[in-house]
Amino acid sequence: MSDTPEPPLWEQWAEASRALPQGERLQKVLATRGFGSRRVCEEIIAAGRVKVNDEVAVLGRRVDVDVDRVTVDGEPIGIRPDVVYYLLNKPAGVVTTAHDPQGRPTIVDLVPPEPRVFPVGRLDIETEGLILLTNDGDFAQAIAHPSRGVEKEYLAHVQNGKVSPAGLRRLRDGVELDDGLTAPADVSQPEPGVLRITIHEGRNRQVRRMCDAIGHPVERLVRVRIGPIAERDLPPGQWRELRIDEVRALGRGDRGGRRRDRGRPIRSKR
Ligand code: URA
Repeated sequence: MSDTPEPPLWEQWAEASRALPQGERLQKVLATRGFGSRRVCEEIIAAGRVKVNDEVAVLGRRVDVDVDRVTVDGEPIGIRPDVVYYLLNKPAGVVTTAHDPQGRPTIVDLVPPEPRVFPVGRLDIETEGLILLTNDGDFAQAIAHPSRGVEKEYLAHVQNGKVSPAGLRRLRDGVELDDGLTAPADVSQPEPGVLRITIHEGRNRQVRRMCDAIGHPVERLVRVRIGPIAERDLPPGQWRELRIDEVRALGRGDRGGRRRDRGRPIRSKR
């Protein structure tokens, strides 16, 4: 018998599971993200242009895209080449539908016609501000689902001047509307007659009805944040692609508040 003691069982298991192939082959992951055929992707890997978690990857490497950080030439890879995610700053007077029987301008007129996208949730025709559009149905459904509770933050310019502390309290605690009591909201008044309201429900004309209920009808309503996404530099009518970190943060269900690191847009250069 040898004098060398056997490593503990848990260490043997850990060793064995490290040896198991896990995740998807790197060349397949790159190919499905638009970097070329598998053969081309193998060449990219062999040339040392691909890193996984900051280490140069070798051919045959497997990755878990939810965990591993994969870069090509130092740039993080995109999510899927066939999906797009746009963030649009909707101007007033534009409807949140794909087609309007009355011929009014629609938000899909403001983004590229191909691939066809649809809005995630809606804003009233007179409401301005941030709205997402995508062709990723699963993502849209997950984000819009009330159980996800994605925060939406609005700036509301209201009539009748300064809102009293009692009015603010009603907005915060919940307002009785004809479809029931609203959930507690974050509300502040940065200046008299301007409210910053954060809700995580998505009822029809909710902010307008909440403000009506306390005697301060809305004059102008702007959505300034969706979950973790707050964009100050996008002019009305303009759009940009979401960055990878933003799609991931929304997909993870980050409710928002913090400003995230800057990354690059999703769509990979092809
Ligand atoms: N609340 C409203 O009243 N209108 C919107 O467009 C969005 C939230």
